[in-house]
Amino acid sequence: MSLAEDVREAVAVIQNHNEVTIISHIDADGITSETILSLALSRAGINTRSIFIRQLDPLTLHAVPDDSQLTIFSDLGSGQQSLIMEKNLFPDDVIIVDHHVSQPADAGYHEVNALTHGYEKLSAAGVAYMVAKELDNANIDLAKLAIIGNVGDMMDREDLCLSGPAREILADGIGYGNIELWERDLNIYGISTRPLPQALAYTDDLLIPGISQDLPGTKRFLQRLGIVPDERKHWPVWQDISFSEKQMIVTAIVEQMVAAGRPVNRLFADHYLFLDEKMSQSPLRNASEYATLLNSCGRWSRPALGDSICRGDRGGAYTEAYKMLKNHRNCIREVLQYIVDTGVSELSHILYLHVGDRFPDTIVGIGAGMALSRLNPQKPILIMCVDQMDPENTKVSMRTKPDVIAQGVNLQEALCESAAKYGGSGGGHRIAAGAFIPKTAEKEFVYEVNETIRRQLA
Ligand code: C5P
Ligand code: C5P
Repeated sequence: MSLAEDVREAVAVIQNHNEVTIISHIDADGITSETILSLALSRAGINTRSIFIRQLDPLTLHAVPDDSQLTIFSDLGSGQQSLIMEKNLFPDDVIIVDHHVSQPADAGYHEVNALTHGYEKLSAAGVAYMVAKELDNANIDLAKLAIIGNVGDMMDREDLCLSGPAREILADGIGYGNIELWERDLNIYGISTRPLPQALAYTDDLLIPGISQDLPGTKRFLQRLGIVPDERKHWPVWQDISFSEKQMIVTAIVEQMVAAGRPVNRLFADHYLFLDEKMSQSPLRNASEYATLLNSCGRWSRPALGDSICRGDRGGAYTEAYKMLKNHRNCIREVLQYIVDTGVSELSHILYLHVGDRFPDTIVGIGAGMALSRLNPQKPILIMCVDQMDPENTKVSMRTKPDVIAQGVNLQEALCESAAKYGGSGGGHRIAAGAFIPKTAEKEFVYEVNETIRRQLA
């Protein structure tokens, strides 16, 4: 069956029910997936309730109700089908909408999974959107949320643009009129709210001599071009400067990179702007900052707040979410600084570090991803921390880069296999994966993962 056929089958199952429970993941992709499904279903007259969980594992399984007519797992579930079987739900009462590596069980659940059909760059929100559109074409207003989910899960990062089915969803959003595409613009994070010096200096995808990691140097660079803070000492943001100012900055950056012999192939990326959001100083104006705001709710135990934002609450929920965002940004900065300052241990094939209970286990993976380009990006990074739900367990997060994947490394496989050996569980993607393991197994586990990566490269 094709992905479109799986979507149609899932919709036929949904239409047979009038009460649905949605179990979704707490990150930006999980939150947007949940909002898309829950809005589309309620527009079709179906009652929904939503439950967010950090991951489907033995500690969270109890959150899945036994009495639901139909349970839709979104942005999780594909890799945990044998665990779902413990709930004894009828196969026809379970739909999985996901993009993680699938581990099918005998139960025969209705699974709609982008990855299974070879779409590596379509997130769960993209799949949820396909379901919503199949339910009713009028749901194309939800394309915007699907784009946020895809960007939140970094589906655009490797190619610096969305591709495949995600690109078609983008076209829906542009056609509907709430999305604007800024094609091949400067590849920086924070175009709507980050002061230009910070946006240029701290974008870890680019290594610009005299700018990257050098805030005073960046300010001097901008001042030389005549771009200066206003009378209140506020620097402009990328989104607000003129086309000629942008051209001037890009030309100067290209000159500096070429002079230093640096490749310029990651200098340009697509940005997705939302025309129905406030223009000035709003983190909701572009997809990547919007996704960060949702992560700052979900990863800090407030996924329902993120859902309110997705549903359009720009009053009380927005005020609260904005505070969450500030805290989240500070915390990520701290995690990154801690990893860089403490330094990682190096084995033959991986880098690793234990950060103890300093940071929530939902945040550590983000820090790991960001630290990678400051360390040795040729080796995958493995960060451990205390599992907040059970201090006898350890949460593991791994991240690597596309060129390492191209050599045969698969983090999802490495963590799943190694965790299973010690009675833990893992999942995710080739490029980013996570696991929970018993604390007592930490040392052996790290060596086991190192060996697995060595075998994958052999
Ligand atoms: O649940 P899951 O798919 O949502 O988590 C995605 C995580 O994987 C994100 O935190 C993102 O940072 C990471 N990722 C990545 N590089 C990619 C794709 C995903 O680091 N190319
Ligand atoms: O938690 P972290 O951001 O490191 O997760 C990276 C990826 O691994 C995500 O896609 C997440 O859903 C997945 N994961 C998993 N099982 C776990 C932990 C993480 O499938 N036990």
